[in-house]
Amino acid sequence: MKNINPKYYEPLEQMMSVRHQYMAKIISTEWSTNIYNFFKNKQILDLGCGTGKFLHNYFELGSYCTGVDIVENFQIKNKKKFSLIKSNFQSFLEKNKRKYDVIFIFEFLEHLSSREKKKLFSCLPNILNKNGIIFLSTLNKNIFSEFMSINIAEYLLKLLPKNTHDPNLFLKPSDIQILANKNNLKLLNIQGISYNPLFKIFKLSKIELVNYFATIKN
Ligand SMILES: C[S@@+](CC[C@H](N)C(=O)[O-])C[C@H]1O[C@@H](n2cnc3c(N)ncnc32)[C@H](O)[C@@H]1O
Repeated sequence: MKNINPKYYEPLEQMMSVRHQYMAKIISTEWSTNIYNFFKNKQILDLGCGTGKFLHNYFELGSYCTGVDIVENFQIKNKKKFSLIKSNFQSFLEKNKRKYDVIFIFEFLEHLSSREKKKLFSCLPNILNKNGIIFLSTLNKNIFSEFMSINIAEYLLKLLPKNTHDPNLFLKPSDIQILANKNNLKLLNIQGISYNPLFKIFKLSKIELVNYFATIKN
């Protein structure tokens, strides 16, 4: 992935609020606290962090944040407690000695080969603190998801540059379940995401046919 068109990150920014809403729901159920208290003094790792803007929201809530992306398209400067690193996730994980309370893997898995996905999941248990949590979102693997993410989003609505997605890399929720189980991680929740192109709004949905969130625990 090189020379990323800035247009690529626009729909991702529109996803910020639904991610926050999803995490707030899980946090309130699992930890009986609100998202603002939860993110105070947490160690967060954002893999495939893009511009770093999403991660920065949680720095503002008091977390220690590390973002990693293979492309340096960062739009936030590094400072104490907030660092964005240009690296392939694999090289980063080989050198990393830290453990994290929260790992973000948003819209990232669908850009990795099957071998890379397996490698990533095999590293997750070692970098997750006790009672840690992984929030991710990705694209489901089916004909409808392929049609919506490529024919509609890339070609008709031109929300994303052409060839952003390769449907062969998409994952079903059951693929996440298998990757998690193989690495002694527990898939806690799956929830669909819907998109209204007229208002450019993403919402939580009961249907996980196209985009969906997942929460994983150790
Ligand atoms: C669809 S974007 C998601 C960005 C961000 N997570 C978000 O949702 O706003 C996928 C990101 O993964 C990065 N990426 C792809 N392959 C990578 C790899 N092997 N190591 C690290 N980053 C990678 C890309 O550069 C891109 O910024």
